Amino acid sequence: MSPLKNDRFLRALLRQPVDVTPVWMMRQAGRYLPEYRATRQQAGDFMALCKNPQLACEVTLQPLERYPLDAAILFSDILTVPDAMGLGLYFETGEGPRFKKTVKTEADVVALPIPNAEKDLDYVINAVKTIRGALNGRVPLIGFSGSPWTLATYMIEGGSSKDFRAAKNMMYQQPQVLHMLLDKLAVSIIDYLNAQIRAGAQAVQIFDSWGGALSAAAYQEFSLAYMKKIIDGLIKEHDGRKVPVILFTKGGGLWLESMATTGADALGLDWTIDIGAARQRVGSKVALQGNMDPSVLYGSPQRIRDEVAHILAGFGHGEGHVMNLGHGIDQHTSPEHAGAFINAVHELSAKYHQ
Ligand code: CP3
Repeated sequence: MSPLKNDRFLRALLRQPVDVTPVWMMRQAGRYLPEYRATRQQAGDFMALCKNPQLACEVTLQPLERYPLDAAILFSDILTVPDAMGLGLYFETGEGPRFKKTVKTEADVVALPIPNAEKDLDYVINAVKTIRGALNGRVPLIGFSGSPWTLATYMIEGGSSKDFRAAKNMMYQQPQVLHMLLDKLAVSIIDYLNAQIRAGAQAVQIFDSWGGALSAAAYQEFSLAYMKKIIDGLIKEHDGRKVPVILFTKGGGLWLESMATTGADALGLDWTIDIGAARQRVGSKVALQGNMDPSVLYGSPQRIRDEVAHILAGFGHGEGHVMNLGHGIDQHTSPEHAGAFINAVHELSAKYHQ
């Protein structure tokens, strides 16, 4: 494999010195880009795009052709794992993800197979290999998975949910059934992420999009414990380099101290927390990733620049910061404004690394 030409993202995750703050955006390959919409149309639909390694590679690289990003993220979805467990993922236009089968009873959980990633998710693993080849060492490639709790909500509800009624019913009526499901997911995810790492993913992020919907105690028991189990099971080093792990619990700002004890190298922050305060709480243990509100990108390029300056000043001097949005970029964002964000990070951050 060709050596990395730009490794500031991996260095920042390990709190090593960099010249400027590295930046990438969650959902950077997506609907706000006209070239993405064109490729998705060529593929037919979103899942066909995910299942075609050549086209998945093409859309992964699209934002890198436009912007000087410091990392690429595998183009796929977190719901590929439940799909490989036989639930039948499909997307209804305007309605988000849906499953043909849901998981409601103990018998449903017992019947769920644990996928073999190399075999059952071969299209994802092939996409990782194809993207690594095409990147040719330009920037590192991020692999990812959903957290067990976040995936479980989709599997129990059958799709997106506002209140997680079915998942919380299971949590408080049959906690042992939910634990069995979460454990099966953790085992599946360890195999899935390790397969991505062996195929060439140089860092991995766990998306715990719905951890923030839990009480403090339930978060520990039903989300964080299983993410820790995953981190314990991951390959720590590949090709002579450490493979950093980023833990992103949306709405997890109150629980950073316990997140920092899981063995994660970095914590993803949403925009509800002040990054300077977060650094004071955990900055000697982990790097921090984030945390501009994606809605700031609706503002003018000058407004975006001001917000970038504010976040950089909040983190302050020294190492251990990867700039990102606090959640995925919205489809109604102007591509020019995304560019203003990325350029501002590189232009305004050099003084914090001298
Ligand atoms: O960050 C990236 O660029 C990598 C690709 C990526 C996608 N989804 C592509 C995608 C990643 C990392 C995800 C993660 C994901 N998927 C999460 C966790 C992150 C988060 O947002 O908190 C969740 C909850 C999902 C499930 C999912 N997939 C939803 C809710 C949707 C939106 C459905 C809709 O119609 O709005 C998807 C679809 C999806 N995943 C799209 C993309 C680019 C849009 C699909 C399209 O092209 O129509």
